[in-house]
Amino acid sequence: MTYPDPDSSSAELFARARKVMPGGNSRTGVFLSPYPIYAVHGEGCRVTDADGNVRIDCINNWSSLIHGHGNPAIQAAISEQSRHLLAAGMPTELEIELAELLCERLPGVEQIRFSNSGTEGMMMALRAARAFTGRDMVAKVEGAFHGSADALEISVAPSRSQWGPADAPASVPATAGIPVKVRQDTLVLPFNNVEATARLLEAHADELAAVVIDPIVSRIGFVEASAEYLQTVRALTEKKGIVLIFDEVFSFRVGYHGAQGLTGITPDLTALGKIIGGGLPVGATGGKAEIMEVFDQTKKPLRVEHGGTYNANPLTMAAGLACMRQMTPAAYERLDRLGDRMRDGLRRCLKDHDLPGQVKGRGSLVGLLFDGKPFADFRTLPRGKDQLQRILGLHRFLLNHGVQIIPFGLMILSTAMTETDVDEVLEQVSAGMAALPSFDLSHAG
Ligand SMILES: Cc1ncc(COP(=O)(O)O)c(C=O)c1O
Repeated sequence: MTYPDPDSSSAELFARARKVMPGGNSRTGVFLSPYPIYAVHGEGCRVTDADGNVRIDCINNWSSLIHGHGNPAIQAAISEQSRHLLAAGMPTELEIELAELLCERLPGVEQIRFSNSGTEGMMMALRAARAFTGRDMVAKVEGAFHGSADALEISVAPSRSQWGPADAPASVPATAGIPVKVRQDTLVLPFNNVEATARLLEAHADELAAVVIDPIVSRIGFVEASAEYLQTVRALTEKKGIVLIFDEVFSFRVGYHGAQGLTGITPDLTALGKIIGGGLPVGATGGKAEIMEVFDQTKKPLRVEHGGTYNANPLTMAAGLACMRQMTPAAYERLDRLGDRMRDGLRRCLKDHDLPGQVKGRGSLVGLLFDGKPFADFRTLPRGKDQLQRILGLHRFLLNHGVQIIPFGLMILSTAMTETDVDEVLEQVSAGMAALPSFDLSHAG
């Protein structure tokens, strides 16, 4: 197990890929420098790469695989469904069953419609909010990622020189290709800053269609919205007739009733994706019936047209049902315990190796930082050179010792893991921490 290795199959595949795809792939986030590791097989919590290396998977496709790889019930559901129908240009009973399950579990979801990615789930939530309120502007939190919709690829990870005032963050496009007018219609909020957020929302109340919040922000090391922050935003949005959207594409995996169930705050709309498709492409927009009514094609005139060749496709619905039915309260409790074991173990590793650091996360989400400074938002997130070098170094060490994590220190667990698997990860983390000073980071990217 040697990464990087210019003679590896993955290196060869990447050279081939670069000829036909710019940057050699179709998904920025899976790139590793100098080349991404190509996957060929997954089983339980382990994934095998093109060179035959097997690693414990703590990425789980950035959270979509809550049961890891090759879950028998999901495989059986996909296989069975594939014998009946892939798609038909007709609805199926399966989408009703998955909708019933989600409406029953999520306090803020009375009705729901499916799409094919979290991005689409968010996009349709914004469109519904705009149609419902007749307003254009949307607000999001600085440092949060909500997928690829233009209005939300704003201030995801702006550089310090672009930040603007702490109590009124600048609206900074995260990518080229975002129209100036779109950027101007996105208001950026300072996360967990109750006073400044309240002031900004009051000032723009008449223009705002929606406020988008992810209660647990993955891109800020799984930092959580404070209870006071959520209560303030909920009270203000209610008072001003602004639609409160929770992005639970990622954070739905923390509990049977989602992140909203844990926070006790009920949004007007919720965007979903990832786990609800059982590993296949999926997105969804759900919420209060009076807002979801904008999608009702039986009402004339139709207010929001929501099409999509693969929306609620039977394979995804079957896989999603097989996945979610296994996510019983007991399954969440077991995942919580695995997460606690990993978090406690990582804290112990930091202590044993006398390294600065902290461990965040909840349930199956685990975030490790090599900096003990408390933080609550994007601006205070530790981003010193030492922290970066250590986390990238550890990531590289783990790759060569049978474990894959998200490069900047996030681990996402699955029900396929056992306590023994968690302990194996911790053993390698401890070995990696012991070896940290000797890492060559010249290829870390
Ligand atoms: C919080 C959040 N929202 C939305 C998305 C977009 O989902 P998708 O990649 O399925 O488009 C993601 C993807 O990682 C996400 O983490």
